Amino acid sequence: MSDTPHKLRTAIFISGRGSNMKAIVEAARSPDFPASIDLIVSNNPDAEGLKFAKLNNIPTYVVPHGNYETREDFETALLGVLAPYEIELICLAGFMRLLTPLFISAYAGRIINIHPSLLPLYKGTNTHQRALDAGEAYTGCSVHYVIPEMDAGDVILQEKVVIEDNDTADTLATKTLAVEHKLYPAAIRIVADHLSQYTHEETSNAETTAQLKKHPFEKSHGGSHMANAPETKSHGNIKDTEIVNSWMMWVRFTTVMKYSVIIIAAILILMALVWL
Ligand code: GAR
Repeated sequence: MSDTPHKLRTAIFISGRGSNMKAIVEAARSPDFPASIDLIVSNNPDAEGLKFAKLNNIPTYVVPHGNYETREDFETALLGVLAPYEIELICLAGFMRLLTPLFISAYAGRIINIHPSLLPLYKGTNTHQRALDAGEAYTGCSVHYVIPEMDAGDVILQEKVVIEDNDTADTLATKTLAVEHKLYPAAIRIVADHLSQYTHEETSNAETTAQLKKHPFEKSHGGSHMANAPETKSHGNIKDTEIVNSWMMWVRFTTVMKYSVIIIAAILILMALVWL
């Protein structure tokens, strides 16, 4: 039996600069870090952070949200990208898209986010300016679990940053970002601790990493892949795809029912008109 501790297979989602992603990747180089960074996903093809991911030979995928009609279609594409990687933890790091229950339920308790405020204070955007305007003595940052309500999941770890007289929103953002870069890896260690027992049970029954199938959109590691309309297929992570499939079946069923009712009503109205 191997003594090597299990590392959580982790995907990082970014939309822009990706400095938190970089901090996590650097932390993951440490042999005792409990997560491996297996995938970087961005909704933005121009995200600055993608360059770092590619330079570091981490598989990257771009799923441009604008290519999808609905949030659910976008998230189904995301799930399709993740499935073959058997991802166990998702770290949102400056990922500026709200996720719906469709996606969140597929990775319940396994999606975390970093937010630049002392949650539950200042959810949403423009957090440092709002803290300044309110005359707060502190701003800060929080890593929290992601639930469908924005910035509302349980806080895993947070740290204060003192607001000084000459601070502006920009200086606070810079000071806070430096704190974020330490806070996020520390929070991942805590989450990994919580998940470790469950993960052991899961992996003892799962396929080995070597048996992982390649995603149909994957060309090479270290390159960037565009996923325009990937289907969700039954790859490694059966639980996720089952949830998506049942969801899609439900959506199709309700759509068919809706149109059937409309057609039957139209026929009845026509018959009534002819009769009269
Ligand atoms: C970070 O400050 C992060 O806390 C914030 O965006 C920045 C991303 O920077 N996230 C949010 O506001 C999420 N609500 P990065 O791309 O350099 O990591």
